[in-house]
Amino acid sequence: MDELIQKIKERSARVGIIGLGYVGLPLAVEFARVGFRVTGIDTDPDKVQKVLAGSSYVGDVSEVELRVAVRDGRLQATSDYAALEELDCVSICVPTPLRKTKDPDISYILAATAEIKRRLRPGQLIVLESTTFPGTTDEILRPELEQSGLKVGVDFSLAYSPERMDPGNRQYTTRNTPKIIGGITPSCTAAAFALYEQVIERVIPVSSTRAAEMVKLLENTFRAVNIALVNEIAMMCDRLEIDTWEVIDAAATKPFGFMPFYPGPGLGGHCIPVDPHYLSWKLKTLDYTARFIQLASEINAAMPHYVVDKVADALNAQEKSIKNAAILVLGIAYKRDVDDVRESPAIDIIKSLLAKGARVSYSDPLVPVLVTDDLALTSVELTEDLLASVDCVIIVTDHSAYPWNWIAERARLIVDTRNALRGYGPDNVIRL
Ligand SMILES: NC(=O)c1ccc[n+]([C@@H]2O[C@H](COP(=O)([O-])OP(=O)(O)OC[C@H]3O[C@@H](n4cnc5c(N)ncnc54)[C@H](O)[C@@H]3O)[C@@H](O)[C@H]2O)c1
Repeated sequence: MDELIQKIKERSARVGIIGLGYVGLPLAVEFARVGFRVTGIDTDPDKVQKVLAGSSYVGDVSEVELRVAVRDGRLQATSDYAALEELDCVSICVPTPLRKTKDPDISYILAATAEIKRRLRPGQLIVLESTTFPGTTDEILRPELEQSGLKVGVDFSLAYSPERMDPGNRQYTTRNTPKIIGGITPSCTAAAFALYEQVIERVIPVSSTRAAEMVKLLENTFRAVNIALVNEIAMMCDRLEIDTWEVIDAAATKPFGFMPFYPGPGLGGHCIPVDPHYLSWKLKTLDYTARFIQLASEINAAMPHYVVDKVADALNAQEKSIKNAAILVLGIAYKRDVDDVRESPAIDIIKSLLAKGARVSYSDPLVPVLVTDDLALTSVELTEDLLASVDCVIIVTDHSAYPWNWIAERARLIVDTRNALRGYGPDNVIRL
């Protein structure tokens, strides 16, 4: 292990990143930027081609940095796992979605691990970054990799380090977001610590892979539960005819013991709606029901329907129905200033409106087309004529590029799920 740490410190260790998506590509570029020779392995040939062409498909990765890294030979990409043989450190950043039943789907981790096992050699460090349930690294990866005949902590190192990136966040990037590391043995932790210390300002070791796995699930369950709480507060305020946003802003003046969360159209993205289910699934195997997660999931999943009800009420007040109404959804990405529509509540809202007979269009400068199993829509241009012609505009995603004042002045009716139109007058605006 000392030899590997030495190579890492000299930056002569060869680094591999399996999965070049939202998580893997920024990490690969970061290691390349500080001088490592990095190989990205992705089963998607399109992503590999784009990396090799220096064309960034992840908002947080600068095209210039990517191009320079590829041009200088510090970053390569391939779909061929044979590249693993030359690598000293390998980080696994593959997807961990849910199955339709909301059970974890760790098949991508298993596929990557099987490839690593075939080529594992003494001295290598393997780090799992994908979000997963506690026990994945020591109960599943460890025995699988040890089938190679090599022993963890003796022949090779194995650790878990959760990815905490927040797409679109300009203040906290890969470099300055502290990173948690937990190894199977202290020497595994030391090796992984040495690696990540090269690119991340603050690395925090914990006592085990299971603790590191749980840290990530605590963080994202904390968000899911607090968002559900504030969504329910918004529904209560609605009944009480109190302005939720005013209440939250006032509560947020308390300098201790309160952290503001804001209501919205529902959870989206690859993490918050998904990760807590990894934890509740694991607990179910131990005969324990994760009650907060269950309740938060119910409340958050109901928000798109609550928004549709708000639209129905608003149209009703104008003696109109959802059926045949022209409705424009503004913003379909799961959050502001990203182009990612995974789990976006906009999809549920659009489907529900279509099922009720509305004529739905959407406009999102970051998402030109929306294709799901049963939807195929193209973003429309946001024009004065369009705003004047639709019966209702629903603000689902508050991208900073939208000219709010201009929109508020031209739309007939707006249901604002993000308080984007704060201060633009209540006449034609219904807030959550
Ligand atoms: N996106 C985020 O903001 C974020 C934040 C924190 C944690 N995470 C976690 O990080 C992990 C990765 O998420 P992501 O958003 O980067 O996913 P992603 O879908 O953007 O990227 C995953 C990549 O892995 C590739 N891949 C799939 N199977 C593979 C295999 N067997 N071998 C090689 N490549 C393979 C895919 O082609 C894809 O390019 C997930 O566990 C996710 O929960 C994501």
